[in-house]
Amino acid sequence: MTILVTGATGNVGRHVVDLLVRAGADVRATSRNPESLDLPAEVDVRRADLTDPKTFEQALQGVEKIFLYNQPAGIDGVMAAAKAAGVEHAVLLSSLAAAGRDPDHWIARWHRAVEESIERSGLSWTFVRPGPFAVNSLLWAPSIREGRPVRLHYAHSYLSSIHERDIAEVSTCALLQDGHAGARYHLTGGDSITQAEQVALIGKAIGRELAFEDVTGDDARAELRARFGPRLQELIQEGVIGPTDPPGIIETRIRYYLEALDGPAEVDGTVEKILGKPARTFAEWAVDHRADFTN
Ligand SMILES: NC(=O)c1ccc[n+]([C@@H]2O[C@H](COP(=O)([O-])OP(=O)(O)OC[C@H]3O[C@@H](n4cnc5c(N)ncnc54)[C@H](OP(=O)(O)O)[C@@H]3O)[C@@H](O)[C@H]2O)c1
Repeated sequence: MTILVTGATGNVGRHVVDLLVRAGADVRATSRNPESLDLPAEVDVRRADLTDPKTFEQALQGVEKIFLYNQPAGIDGVMAAAKAAGVEHAVLLSSLAAAGRDPDHWIARWHRAVEESIERSGLSWTFVRPGPFAVNSLLWAPSIREGRPVRLHYAHSYLSSIHERDIAEVSTCALLQDGHAGARYHLTGGDSITQAEQVALIGKAIGRELAFEDVTGDDARAELRARFGPRLQELIQEGVIGPTDPPGIIETRIRYYLEALDGPAEVDGTVEKILGKPARTFAEWAVDHRADFTN
């Protein structure tokens, strides 16, 4: 059985490849830049772009199952190519936002568009819907490495950030085992802590006390605009959001931070139900990523 992993360079996809290889599966991996992939020699590497379905026609030959990154542009064509090639099951790396409180938010629409295409495709499927990734905290790495205080937006807001390895392990179960068809898995990390506590745990992992600054209100708005502005411009160019949407998107983010100050964030038991062990904690993630925070 050949399993195709898209997004094999991604935070989750590279672990999925690793876990499948260890399980003895026949793995094919795709990237838009396959030369950047550093994978075990037994992995069959192909160039393919989810926005250009014809690039998948060859890569899908002989494939039984597929791990998909979320990319709405081209998804109907990719799923048609998968069906034509005889692929049976798709596991999608989706998002908790797809089931979320703001169905009109672009992130919810972006993920639902792909889920709906897969639902229509005639393949069986599993939707893996994680909340915030712990790996987002790598954004703090330059400040920490350079000894500067970490600027946290609403430092005392709670998160249950999930380790990318847990997402990959659940995805791998859905690829290798029966019994996951039609499931929508809501995944969170193993503990609910504040961003300030996350910084302290990174400090503990690297043996250094770390300072942070609590950035709120208009200062947070300005930093969010600077951080996400270029990505929001790209989304306008791609027609995903309208030209007047960015201020509302920034305000929604601020609202989420404010709501999260009341904590705790939800800690869901799905990872443990599937893997038979609790979801990893942020402290475990920080230890696994020590090298990213040190020079
Ligand atoms: N970060 C979070 O907190 C969070 C929470 C919930 C859900 N998610 C979802 O998780 C997914 C991964 O997020 P991430 O930011 O962590 O991504 P990432 O790991 O940085 O990786 C993105 C991957 O997507 C692949 N990709 C992008 N465009 C592609 C295309 N046109 N064709 C083929 N492959 C393409 C890239 O592959 P190549 O560049 O090698 O082609 C890369 O491997 C996203 O869909 C995101 O919405 C993220």
